[in-house]
Amino acid sequence: MWNDRSLLSMNLADADQARSLLAAAHADSWKGDELAGKAVANVFFEDSTRTRVSFSIAAQTLGAKVVDLTSAGSSVAKGETLLDTAWTIEAMGVDAMVVRAGQSGAAELIDRHTHCAIINAGDGTHQHPTQALTDALAIGRSFTREEDWDLSGLNIAIVGDVVSSRVARSNVRLLQALGATVVLVGPPSMAPSSLQSLGCSVTSDFDSVIDQCDAAMMLRIQFERGGGSVLASTREYHQRYGMSEARAAHMKDGAIVMHPGPMNRGVEIAAAVADGERSVILDQVAGGVLVRKAALVHAINQ
Ligand code: CP
Repeated sequence: MWNDRSLLSMNLADADQARSLLAAAHADSWKGDELAGKAVANVFFEDSTRTRVSFSIAAQTLGAKVVDLTSAGSSVAKGETLLDTAWTIEAMGVDAMVVRAGQSGAAELIDRHTHCAIINAGDGTHQHPTQALTDALAIGRSFTREEDWDLSGLNIAIVGDVVSSRVARSNVRLLQALGATVVLVGPPSMAPSSLQSLGCSVTSDFDSVIDQCDAAMMLRIQFERGGGSVLASTREYHQRYGMSEARAAHMKDGAIVMHPGPMNRGVEIAAAVADGERSVILDQVAGGVLVRKAALVHAINQ
């Protein structure tokens, strides 16, 4: 998980490091000056609400100065490259760069060519490690696994546009590392059987697994990455793969519904379920700040 001071991707061998970070995030026992005198740059070449704001709040709460850079309004819009932008920000003396980019591998590329800590805040369809840690935190807390963050015995369905999803790729690795059983669900164009190579099962029949799930993680159709281009209609998609009220009613007692956001309400999840009693979606958001505090402290102060 950690590549020296950088957090770039989740790996199956990362269970101990992940458990340690989840414990620190859950405890949230920071004094508030852990990052005093440090500078964190949020460098976002793609849009974000949750990730960018939560990294800002996390860093500021711990005493760091935070600068935000987005493509619009920066020299990226004039054609400056990823690396020139990173070198420019680093030359100003930042201790950590939080990077989101549309290109898979962008955070690793920047990490190879800079010296400050790099945290991958989502790169193309590749990885989004702090989202997976945020999701594991929410699952662990929902099923009272805070003592050891062992998710053994839990069945977790990741549903929807899996091929486009960096969240799914990070979650598959982390949830399996923590002992959970993962099934990927979606139409073959979004959840092809080749994804079995990730070590989990794959099905196109959501209703065949709905009553066995402890958690169903619904994914947004990523229209901006071509997701959904072969769908007949979003209404039909909702009927077959959406978390409707009827489907939620078939889940086990205590089972939870998750979504990393942003949601397409009425497509992958019904509004009534997103706002209903099984939903932990806002807990995921709140936990994101805790995970990002722990990640920044580790990255900058280790
Ligand atoms: N889950 C997630 O990455 O959301 P944002 O795109 O709003 O950061």
